Amino acid sequence: MAHTLYDFMRWEHMINVGVVGYGTIGKRVADAVILQEDMKLVGVTGRTYNYRLEIAASRGIDIYSIETPSQLKDQGIKVKGNLKDLLKKADIIVDCSPKPCGKENIDKYYKPAGVKAILQGGEKNDAAELSFVAQCNYRDAINKDYVRVVSCNTTGMCRTLHALDKAFGVKKARATLIRRGGDPHAVTRGPINAIVPSFELPSHHGPDVRTVLYDMEVFTTAVIVPTTMMHMHNMSVVLKKQPSVKEVVELFKKTPRVRVIKANHKLGSTAEVIELARDLGYKRGDMMDICVWEEGIGLYDGELFFPQAVHQESDVIPENIDAIRAMMGFKDQEKSIMLTNISLGI
Ligand SMILES: NC(=O)c1ccc[n+]([C@@H]2O[C@H](COP(=O)([O-])OP(=O)(O)OC[C@H]3O[C@@H](n4cnc5c(N)ncnc54)[C@H](OP(=O)(O)O)[C@@H]3O)[C@@H](O)[C@H]2O)c1
Repeated sequence: MAHTLYDFMRWEHMINVGVVGYGTIGKRVADAVILQEDMKLVGVTGRTYNYRLEIAASRGIDIYSIETPSQLKDQGIKVKGNLKDLLKKADIIVDCSPKPCGKENIDKYYKPAGVKAILQGGEKNDAAELSFVAQCNYRDAINKDYVRVVSCNTTGMCRTLHALDKAFGVKKARATLIRRGGDPHAVTRGPINAIVPSFELPSHHGPDVRTVLYDMEVFTTAVIVPTTMMHMHNMSVVLKKQPSVKEVVELFKKTPRVRVIKANHKLGSTAEVIELARDLGYKRGDMMDICVWEEGIGLYDGELFFPQAVHQESDVIPENIDAIRAMMGFKDQEKSIMLTNISLGI
């Protein structure tokens, strides 16, 4: 029999994963779980009827209701049971419901059933035992019961700042976040024709980075703009050791889930980055890497500057997969990241 990359893991059984909340993040996590040879998607939940559940059902995914399934049944969705039934089949739940439902679901459902759960970045840090980004603190998540995968923005900053910190030491980091108004399908979000500053100082993103990079000196400000594709971060970092621009480029090139792109390759904007993801054939046009523009990496007065783009709908998906492995006791951080990247084509 051919050996696969998964042979060394020697799982006694597949990890049974349930997904609660089948929206922007949930449907992507479910698809990613299906691609893992060491995991089985045992079902997803539907709350109100929508087309996504029709697609899931047509692909053979089992659907469970949260409470009473009448609305789903009325619309012809075959429901396998309710959330309590799903919990009987799952070793771990990835909860992708909107805040603060994840925290509430822990207390109401997951704890009483003794099932582990991953929450998403909309939840508060103290909703789980640990906040997580695979490259930064995988080992801290091993065998934990409740972990929060941090938000798309926090994930993006953690990936690049962690790499810089390991290589050169970060004295302090500053970032201005230019945030998308809403996801592409979100017709009620905005602004349509305005730039909306955040008046929090720092914006909540800086403190959130510190829930993963525990000692990082980081301060953020944020604005929201009328775009749906990606967020952008203008980063400035004071390092303990002074690298050359070339060394920083090389570092980012070898950092997992970070991609160095060139504006002069006709990739000078977030729109072109998403087009790149589509042309590469990535499912849904998702760009799971954090994209750093090479031409934007520069040093001025001892300070490093660079712009990075974050695809909010997808950068946290590989983190959820690695969090599942860590929480289920798989100890090898590098191998988990590698397996996830290969399976997702990152
Ligand atoms: N979208 C992003 O860009 C993004 C990026 C990173 C992290 N996140 C985080 O990921 C989480 C989910 O966000 P999302 O954008 O995927 O939301 P979403 O698209 O609105 O999907 C949420 C899903 O959860 C379901 N739901 C609602 N209340 C529920 C409950 N009490 N229990 C179980 N399921 C429930 C919804 O069902 P109905 O449709 O029937 O209401 C929907 O299927 C949030 O914490 C968010 O902050 C989002």
